[in-house]
Amino acid sequence: MNDTFLQACRGERTAHTPVWFMRQAGRYLPQYQKVRNKISFLELCKTPELAAEVTRQPIDIFGFDAAILFSDILIPMEAMNLDLDFHEGKGPIFAHPVRSHKAVDELVVPVPEESVPFVLETIRLLRSTLQIPLIGFAGAPFTLATYLIEGGSSKVFLHTKKMMFQEPKLYHNLLAKITACTSAYLQAQARAGAQALQLFDSWVGILAPCDYEEFALPYVRSIISDLRAVTDVPIIYFANNGATLTRLTTTVGADVLGFDWRLPIGDAVARAGNHAVQGNLDPLALFLPKEKLEARIKSMLTDSRDARGYIFNLGHGILPETPPDQVKIAVEAVHRFSGKS
Ligand code: CP3
Repeated sequence: MNDTFLQACRGERTAHTPVWFMRQAGRYLPQYQKVRNKISFLELCKTPELAAEVTRQPIDIFGFDAAILFSDILIPMEAMNLDLDFHEGKGPIFAHPVRSHKAVDELVVPVPEESVPFVLETIRLLRSTLQIPLIGFAGAPFTLATYLIEGGSSKVFLHTKKMMFQEPKLYHNLLAKITACTSAYLQAQARAGAQALQLFDSWVGILAPCDYEEFALPYVRSIISDLRAVTDVPIIYFANNGATLTRLTTTVGADVLGFDWRLPIGDAVARAGNHAVQGNLDPLALFLPKEKLEARIKSMLTDSRDARGYIFNLGHGILPETPPDQVKIAVEAVHRFSGKS
């Protein structure tokens, strides 16, 4: 059993630096494409044997030190009674965006064992075979809300910010429901066997710090304090594009803070204080020539040496265009430079 990832989460010394990549299972892998060609993305997420298989692919190919459950942050949102679809090239679409009191009232807060049994079954299947820790995850409430309110992906988040500023009561009612759902969902993942839990806050970087404090942070804090009452699994909070928010993200109660690449890793370590740190190679740096990629990894390992626990990762999800050979070079470099025998 290789537990370096969990040791780093807890701030303990590790024999080598553990590494995993956000979105490490997915379209950049021909092995994933082969499975995915036969089945839609949503069906894949709902078929435990196949979801477990694609979760394992990057572990077997590259030797990552942690696996992340194959699913999507929007899966538990569909279970709230929403019509979700993934369109080729367009990403996720909610046919009926949530923008009224009636729409919020119609959202149900489901019981995970009944609404997403396939996720919990995937976790159990993986735990019975993996030799490395399994990470469960959820979207953080603000990020989830943007998809529900906009009806899909967005660039300026017009409807979300309009609701925050013009109808704060409606916004907070919606966030309270999403938070209840996410809290129950993560607790169920821990009960099923997830050994760490990551909250993805992919879009908080669009918020002014005062708005983050009012409209996003309280919900993250509430999920984490609910989790603390029932489980001791390490909790990772990833606030993408969050360099301007670190004074606040350090107060959510997580064990590990994830960072994107816009902050030098040494600065991230300094700001993270007592937290373990995860990150933060630019996913596009995987396109560097081998020598330059290795040199960058080497300096990241040096600059993060004072962290109270360090987990090497990308600063956001890997892109579908990434050559798998470059991933292999990166993982091997992290292991070699950090003394893995
Ligand atoms: O290996 C892993 O990291 C686990 C799998 C995982 C997926 N989505 C699979 C996926 C994880 C952790 C996610 C999280 C997720 N999903 C986030 C947070 C992380 C981030 O990237 O910011 C977000 C914002 C989503 C929402 C989402 N899902 C979008 C916007 C899209 C379309 C764009 C895209 O990247 O394809 C998805 C689809 C999705 N989620 C795919 C995969 C493998 C592609 C589906 C396919 O096979 O066609």
